[in-house]
Amino acid sequence: MKILIIHGPNLNMLGKREPDIYGATTLEEINNSLKKLAADLGAEAAFFQSNSEGDIVSTIQDAMSEYDGIIINPGAYTHTSVAIRDAILSSGLPVVEAHISNVYKREDFRQKSYVSGVALGVISGFGVNSYFLGLKGLIEHLENN
Ligand code: DQA
Repeated sequence: MKILIIHGPNLNMLGKREPDIYGATTLEEINNSLKKLAADLGAEAAFFQSNSEGDIVSTIQDAMSEYDGIIINPGAYTHTSVAIRDAILSSGLPVVEAHISNVYKREDFRQKSYVSGVALGVISGFGVNSYFLGLKGLIEHLENN
């Protein structure tokens, strides 16, 4: 079972970026923990981060032939990107949307997600644990379907 984990814009800055909201853990530390968790659960995790919407779209398109599912934190593109939504739909892959913060208790513009309506599930507000919960949920879903 192969899972692709996609981090959107500004998530390369985790650890330095608004630590009161996003915590002190770096992206590298998150990815290392996700890799270990995936292996413990009998899966393989691969990682991609980009600040560019088009690169994220292309990566989702390419994932179709190689991966069984995707965890994505689309960052700010969550709230703006019809293109990422369409790429998810056309990939046909199960996708879990994960957010470190609870976007529903923040600014109004974060209350709208273009991704949620095409996601298998959404996890928001558990800090970096949102990724781990999402990975567990996705692997369980793939095992049962
Ligand atoms: C985020 C929430 C988004 O609104 C924000 O633009 C991010 C991070 C989160 O993980 O909480 O970049 O996706």
